Amino acid sequence: DGVRRRDFINIAAVGAAGVGGAVTLLPLISQMAPSKDVLAESSTELDISAIEPGQAIKAIFRKQPLFVKRLTEEEISEENAVPLGDLRDPQTLDERTQEGHRDILVTMGVCTHLGCVPLGAAEGEVKGEYGGYFCPCHGSHYDSAGRIRKGPAPTNLEVPEYAFTSDTVIQVG
Ligand code: FES
Repeated sequence: DGVRRRDFINIAAVGAAGVGGAVTLLPLISQMAPSKDVLAESSTELDISAIEPGQAIKAIFRKQPLFVKRLTEEEISEENAVPLGDLRDPQTLDERTQEGHRDILVTMGVCTHLGCVPLGAAEGEVKGEYGGYFCPCHGSHYDSAGRIRKGPAPTNLEVPEYAFTSDTVIQVG
């Protein structure tokens, strides 16, 4: 697996460097070996109580940007009124949110085109023509449900696995 291969590379490098290098070998491995596996399984808890309707926050989940947005009533009605036939990657807002929390949209902050971080989560950033997120790299526009509406991105912003652990806290991952 990945960890073993890395260890082997380290050992090989130290071997080539000579005996003097061996002193640093153990601490190096103990720092490196667990990191990737632990990260892959880690989850992130977020308090979402301070997010006002119409606002979003940026967080980090597994080293990638994560957006949490609280939709206004108006945005919810607008997104629910969009015909699925108009969508490149047809999904309803209900399919992208959780029951009892239809106003909370949790997505990765990673454009599905080539992986740039879209704008629109922070105060004052442009949200694009559909009022959600805008990727400045090649001009992808996402709506308030994080669905791709215009530009080169092939699919909606990814909704990661998450759960509400209370009315104000979500656990992602
Ligand atoms: Fe976002 Fe190309 S990476 S539009």
